[in-house]
Amino acid sequence: MTVRSSFVVVANRLPVDEVITPEGRQWRRSPGGLVTALHPVLAQHKGTWVGWAGGVGEAPEPFDLEGIRLHPVALSAEELERYYEGQSNATIWPLYHDAVETPVYKRRWREAYRIVNARFAEAAAEVAADGATVWVQDYQLQLVPAMLRELRPDLRIGFFLHIPFPPIELFMQMPLRAEVLRGLLGADLVGFQQRLAAQNFVRLARHLLGLRYEGQTIEVDGRRVKAGAFPISIDVAEMERMAADPMVQARAKQIRAELGDPKTVVLGVDRLDYTKGIERRLKAFRELLADGKLSVPEAVMVQVATPSRERVEHYQALRVKVEREVGRINGEFGRVGVPAVHYLHQSYSRSELAALYCASDVMMVTPLRDGMNLVAKEYVASRSDTGGSLVLSEFAGAAAEMRQAFLCNPHDPEGLKDALLRAAHVDSVEARRRMRIMQRHLRTHDVGHWARSFLNELGVPEAQ
Ligand code: ADP
Ligand code: G6P
Repeated sequence: MTVRSSFVVVANRLPVDEVITPEGRQWRRSPGGLVTALHPVLAQHKGTWVGWAGGVGEAPEPFDLEGIRLHPVALSAEELERYYEGQSNATIWPLYHDAVETPVYKRRWREAYRIVNARFAEAAAEVAADGATVWVQDYQLQLVPAMLRELRPDLRIGFFLHIPFPPIELFMQMPLRAEVLRGLLGADLVGFQQRLAAQNFVRLARHLLGLRYEGQTIEVDGRRVKAGAFPISIDVAEMERMAADPMVQARAKQIRAELGDPKTVVLGVDRLDYTKGIERRLKAFRELLADGKLSVPEAVMVQVATPSRERVEHYQALRVKVEREVGRINGEFGRVGVPAVHYLHQSYSRSELAALYCASDVMMVTPLRDGMNLVAKEYVASRSDTGGSLVLSEFAGAAAEMRQAFLCNPHDPEGLKDALLRAAHVDSVEARRRMRIMQRHLRTHDVGHWARSFLNELGVPEAQ
């Protein structure tokens, strides 16, 4: 029997990881701010999360975990390739990130995107109780709001885009453009990370569909669709707690010792994604070593690059380029037992990441374009010792809130090098002042604040 919920989240991924134990398959809640933020609302409403459980073929049966109902949606191997790797991550992802890589357009990918979006919409329609609230997440599911409204006009529908929303000129490239826009307009509230993105959206509605808008509200078929900015955040209290844990602190010391107790540890932590500016960051570090402005072993860099979307060509090409650059730097500037760059193409636990954050002097967050960038926020929240300096790209959504970081334009190599040096050499009083201001902001703008702001605006009474 299908359990029907008054609050439903729809996202490409379910917030769980599969673990194989001697007793068989089990599910564990995956770490991450989104699930933490939505967990209380979901638990309070006997909520359901609709999403893909990973893997291909038949989906597991719906199950309960820690007070949330999880409703898996199946993807075939072909759909994984066309909907997820293709349309989502080789068309929409690069296009929405300023086309920093050339978006690829394929008819069969669009078709799969429609089919899979319809499947998610049907699943949401099946589990939503009368008059329920459904909150759809991110670029993989932009057709879902309209599809769901068609099936269930009684629902209150919200949509949040975690990545940037491009300016009209770029959006207009997409063959599926009108359908995507109409898809989003199926929601009552469309949320973005930044004001500029919300503006791009309302202007696009007029440009492409001739719709009228006033302020951030668009009129569609006699309905009013609101757009707005809701910058996402992290579970700040959890990050602070974890970083203060004596085990994490001890591990941070150990990491520094393992690195040879250098004066300056420069850190990068990203998914291995071409939007993150990893290559340019490595190049900036190499040039500073070549110019003699930094030297090994006094300065070392640690670059953690989480494997991501590994079958997509852009990602394969990036990996080759990044690994070639790391090899070049170590070849020129490393010594036996003392590499200049420690490159880790691996996933880590939250506590190991926290230890890395605490072990570093300069955190480099230098995306060419990023919706928000949670790593920047995690870094600041983890440094309650007020040590460390953050170099942050102006093109990350986080830069709108974290003006005390060493802001830089990652497209400008001299600017990037200058920011890195300033962050490395800043005096500790000034560094602490900057950190404290950013920490104060984060404490009042955590992920719970984000979820409440969005749900309040959507008119979910319990969120008030
Ligand atoms: P994106 O969503 O594009 O990957 P964000 O910076 O917003 O970028 O979020 C990345 C999330 O993934 C952060 O919560 C970060 O802690 C986590 N993460 C990044 N690298 C790793 C890693 N190597 N192991 C585990 N988690 C990671
Ligand atoms: C970004 C996207 C998310 C996505 C995540 C990881 O944060 O906004 O929707 O889940 O990257 O990417 P993946 O392709 O592994 O789900």
